[in-house]
Amino acid sequence: METITDQHFDVQKIRAEFPVLDQKVNGHDLIYFDNAATSQKPKQVIDALTKYYEHNNSNIHRGVHTLAERATHDYEETRKAVATFINANEAEEVVFTKGTTEGLNLVAQAYGRKFLKAGDEIMVSEMEHHSNIVPWQLLCQQTGAVLKKIPITENGELDMGAFDQLINERTKIVSIVYISNSLGTINPISTIVKKAHSVGAKVVVDGAQAAPHQKLDVKTLGCDFLAFSAHKMYGPTGVGVLYGKRDVLEKMDPYQGGGEMIKEVSFDGTTYNDIPYKFEAGTPNIGDVVAFKEAIEFIQRIGHEALHTHEQKLLQVGSELLHKIEGFEPVGYAGDKASVISFNIEGVHPFDLGMFLDARGIAVRTGHHCTQPVMDRYQIDGTVRASFAVYNTKNEIEVFADALQEIIKKFKK
Ligand code: ALA
Repeated sequence: METITDQHFDVQKIRAEFPVLDQKVNGHDLIYFDNAATSQKPKQVIDALTKYYEHNNSNIHRGVHTLAERATHDYEETRKAVATFINANEAEEVVFTKGTTEGLNLVAQAYGRKFLKAGDEIMVSEMEHHSNIVPWQLLCQQTGAVLKKIPITENGELDMGAFDQLINERTKIVSIVYISNSLGTINPISTIVKKAHSVGAKVVVDGAQAAPHQKLDVKTLGCDFLAFSAHKMYGPTGVGVLYGKRDVLEKMDPYQGGGEMIKEVSFDGTTYNDIPYKFEAGTPNIGDVVAFKEAIEFIQRIGHEALHTHEQKLLQVGSELLHKIEGFEPVGYAGDKASVISFNIEGVHPFDLGMFLDARGIAVRTGHHCTQPVMDRYQIDGTVRASFAVYNTKNEIEVFADALQEIIKKFKK
């Protein structure tokens, strides 16, 4: 496929594909820097969703009529597109979920409850999103397994020395975030996978923040599971992917019971469907899965290289401008970092900053970002987080930095 890289990256052309960006908020041009929470959607995704409901809406895998066949075909085409996108061996290794959170819970329950026992260890890190902590705490309560934490260093990296000390033959699962949502840190997944596999542990990767920024290649990563969400990568909300290696998925119990996940049901016993359907009980989010294929196409058309180069430039410009602001306190400044800047301004509460920025049409996220252990680590209530996407511009960052300067002046008067 010819990518935008080949034709020279043009951010204005990309912006024109996102109708939502063309609006004023509180009298100012919208500047959307809350991409780590959810990205905006290009027209092709919106159109695919409309087309589905206007022409093809039907339940899937059930009917013989034309609409059912179209909907089933398009749903399964997205599965194939995802498999190619993440370099899975086969489409059957792609399970559709409603998001990263459901993917992680699915592994904890369908794998963990079956294979873990009292005294086994599960390892996560201090920088995990709550959705990669709480499912494992629940599993520990159910099985007697023990949750271990890899600490983070002052600059927001994983303490790999501590990881080496913690990992041992009792470690059965290492579940780790690829890119931290609150710090932006990119973690060395392949190294972690090699070490975890050397003691026989399975590795689960939370790829929610990585999916819009990094090439996700499950073969290079070597992980056993990878969970991510469509809505952070220019796709619709309510759709996620759980990748699992075939042999592991096949050994697991179902996650939920219901239609579609069975072969035969009787009161004498029930047999389960093959993967991935064994894990897709009930009518799925068909329209959004269909539209998700367009989000993948959008990313592939731009190409990861161009995307990465643009976002790293934004990160560099943003970091330089913000560092000039009096009282700027970055939270997380790892060497390998995605386009996320989390910070505080001395003497101003992050919520106040968020509200004043909104008054200028600038959307950022404030608070603990569902990573309370990170906030505890740095002994702060929360941060302001500006997270950049492929459609953001250098000019937007300059406006943002100027707005911050003005707000701070007001506060310090
Ligand atoms: N996990 C999302 C975020 O970081 C919602 O904002």
